Amino acid sequence: MSILLKGGIVVSAHGRRQVDVRIDGEKIVEVSTNLKAEDSTIEDVSGCFLLPGFIDAHTHLELNNGKGSMSTADNFYTGSKAAVAKGTTAVIDMATPSKGSSLKDCLATWNQLASGNSSCDYTYHMSIIEWNPSIKKEIKEMIEDGITSFKMYMAYDNLRTTDAEIFEAMREIRKYQGMLGIHCENGDLVNEMIAKFVAEGKLSPHYHPLTRPDSVEAEAVERYLMIAKLADLPVNIVHLSTKRALEAVKRARSRKQKVYVETCPQYLVLDDHLYDGPDFEGAKYVCSPPLRSINDQHALWDGIMDGQVNTISTDHCSFNFEGQKTTGKDDFSKIPNGMPGVETRPELIYTYGVTTGKISLERMVALLSEDIAKQFSLYPQKGIIQAGSDADIVIWDPKKTGVISAATQLQNVDYTPYDGMQTRGQAKSVYLRGQKVAESGRVILEKQGKFVFRNITPIDE
Ligand code: URP
Ligand code: ZN
Ligand code: ZN
Repeated sequence: MSILLKGGIVVSAHGRRQVDVRIDGEKIVEVSTNLKAEDSTIEDVSGCFLLPGFIDAHTHLELNNGKGSMSTADNFYTGSKAAVAKGTTAVIDMATPSKGSSLKDCLATWNQLASGNSSCDYTYHMSIIEWNPSIKKEIKEMIEDGITSFKMYMAYDNLRTTDAEIFEAMREIRKYQGMLGIHCENGDLVNEMIAKFVAEGKLSPHYHPLTRPDSVEAEAVERYLMIAKLADLPVNIVHLSTKRALEAVKRARSRKQKVYVETCPQYLVLDDHLYDGPDFEGAKYVCSPPLRSINDQHALWDGIMDGQVNTISTDHCSFNFEGQKTTGKDDFSKIPNGMPGVETRPELIYTYGVTTGKISLERMVALLSEDIAKQFSLYPQKGIIQAGSDADIVIWDPKKTGVISAATQLQNVDYTPYDGMQTRGQAKSVYLRGQKVAESGRVILEKQGKFVFRNITPIDE
């Protein structure tokens, strides 16, 4: 039995149209004005926007290899439910191997974690945390297995590689037109700064951002882009957070480099005064890069408005305040890094971006869905409402309002960085490959997520 979504406004990155949408099985089969009911079940979606399912290209739903061996509060089951309930129908999770193990084993582990547990579709960026002939050989094998994007780190001692190794990995990835994203912070300088503050007995969360100032990020971004220029590889920068880093990107683009920039909601709506909260509250906001100044926040919004920033994903990496963040009570450098956010991104960007007039709804669709799909070889299967695409559709009600709250969130963590924030606009219902999986912020059909096999598909932009 097919479904006819009638009376809504379909939005893409390039415009909006009042058209009906027919879904049959997992796919969108017709998008046109005044479609006849035929034998379809009709859902009246008048007054709502129909948006392509949002894609979060930066989650750590399982495990944390960033600092220590602490597991994240969420896992694929809880994180994906929180995602899809609010409109995110696919995630690209960071699959991270242990030292000495193969990428193939890591892929098998992540498939085991996600398969049968996920309520949204999923794929992974494969992390390269060491470089040797067998990992080099596996780049091609990963791409043949549908994993077309990779992740590397310039910070975190247990994850980072050398510049030479980054260069060699880039050259290998380039052979297959894969996509590389890097965590850009100068790890040596971060270590120096942490050692300095700890030696001085400066141990509260206030010092976390001071160990990772904007220069530490900007230097790494500049170096990364210089290496990418030498390797002749278009690259992605994950969680870019400062004006100075964005300036480095602009310099690279003026050298005719292809660079993709991701930022995250935390850098757009929160700022570094939060590290000074009472009762160790600042620990809730310990993530890397850290929250930044209002000046940086403005520069990022400018970048979003003028197209310098390409995508917004979350870097969802949740740790409970009690029992996890509090392990760093006497030393900020022991606080596990990361914050939850996979649930709140659509409402935050609609509220702070669209309703303030900073960006159009079309731009929001580009930032949260269409341009992510294009960048990571998911398009046109995902990222667009058109005949032939997966029926991943968010029925977005612009009139709904809400308040973000730890007490009502679906993320399996004991706080949210956005507690008490008022939001406008909400996913009224969410379709995942043709099935209604969420309604009014609740999941009504869980564990329907599937692995998305990606093929490299160069997109003309
Ligand atoms: O603090 C963060 N962002 N934790 C997650 C790991 C990473 O750096 O992306
Ligand atoms: Zn990172
Ligand atoms: Zn991350």
